[in-house]
Amino acid sequence: MTIAITAATGQLGRLVVDELLARTSAEQIVALARDTSKAADLAARGIEVRPFDYDRPEALAPALEGVDRLLLISGDAVGQRVAQHAAVIEAATASRVPFVAYTSVLHADTAQHLAVAPDHVETEQLLADAPFAVALLRNGWYSENLVDAAAQAAGSGYVLTSAGDGRQFTAARRDYAAAAAAVLTAETAEAATYELAGDTGFTQDEFAQLVGELAGATVTAQHVSTEGHRAALAEAGLPDGLVDFLVSTEQAVAHGELADPASGTLSGLIGRPTTPLRETLAGALTR
Ligand SMILES: NC(=O)c1ccc[n+]([C@@H]2O[C@H](COP(=O)([O-])OP(=O)(O)OC[C@H]3O[C@@H](n4cnc5c(N)ncnc54)[C@H](OP(=O)(O)O)[C@@H]3O)[C@@H](O)[C@H]2O)c1
Repeated sequence: MTIAITAATGQLGRLVVDELLARTSAEQIVALARDTSKAADLAARGIEVRPFDYDRPEALAPALEGVDRLLLISGDAVGQRVAQHAAVIEAATASRVPFVAYTSVLHADTAQHLAVAPDHVETEQLLADAPFAVALLRNGWYSENLVDAAAQAAGSGYVLTSAGDGRQFTAARRDYAAAAAAVLTAETAEAATYELAGDTGFTQDEFAQLVGELAGATVTAQHVSTEGHRAALAEAGLPDGLVDFLVSTEQAVAHGELADPASGTLSGLIGRPTTPLRETLAGALTR
């Protein structure tokens, strides 16, 4: 069986490759990379590396030759990625790939505030019309997304938030990678939708407290309205797009869109508890 991973040189892709190597042999893995020169270390581990740039649609189908299971890792070019994903789906169809797993976002179909959700919804619709079996890996937020905010809060002593008492259930990138590897190496590749999130959630007050503990400082959450938050971020000089993204993410947290309390789907897939936020932040803050 041949398992291929797109964006194999990205942070998630590399972790998926590591997780696959723990479950299967290098000969069964194909690393698809936009820039194959970045994948020399993967080739050195006995993995076949093939060029795969979402923006070169004509070259995609040949690179999927003989692939039995494909992991399509969502692109990072917001505004272009639905077209990029469409090109990959077309290539997978042309190459008769029987099974595709796609990294979507938690509650993609119901989230009202999450700025990244619409691209994932459109991609999920394209996948629904494709002739192969599809596993939707609806990944929640990476805990690593919070590292910069934690470092900033450790320095300033506060977390500015408009998320109220909303809880988010993050997990480490490596947890999502392990889930992808589990789905890709399952005995039978089945069409399914997985809502994937950390085992435990936290409010922004709890986040501030945790950062304070790790930094040995007093850190508190400063609660502001959505508009107050937007104004403060703009005043701090953040570009409009980033302000929109940050504020909409807070709204998503406030409305429970980055929460999946007690489903245990992610820890069930990976056969262990998800990595606690404390562990991810402790590792990053002491680096
Ligand atoms: N759930 C979350 O919290 C969260 C957070 C951030 C991102 N994401 C999503 O998850 C994806 C993977 O996350 P990550 O942490 O691995 O991000 P990352 O480290 O930034 O990796 C992005 C990968 O996408 C590849 N890529 C970009 N444009 C491409 C193209 N035109 N053709 C082929 N490959 C292309 C990059 O290739 P190069 O290696 O050549 O640069 C890179 O390998 C992201 O792309 C994004 O869609 C989710």
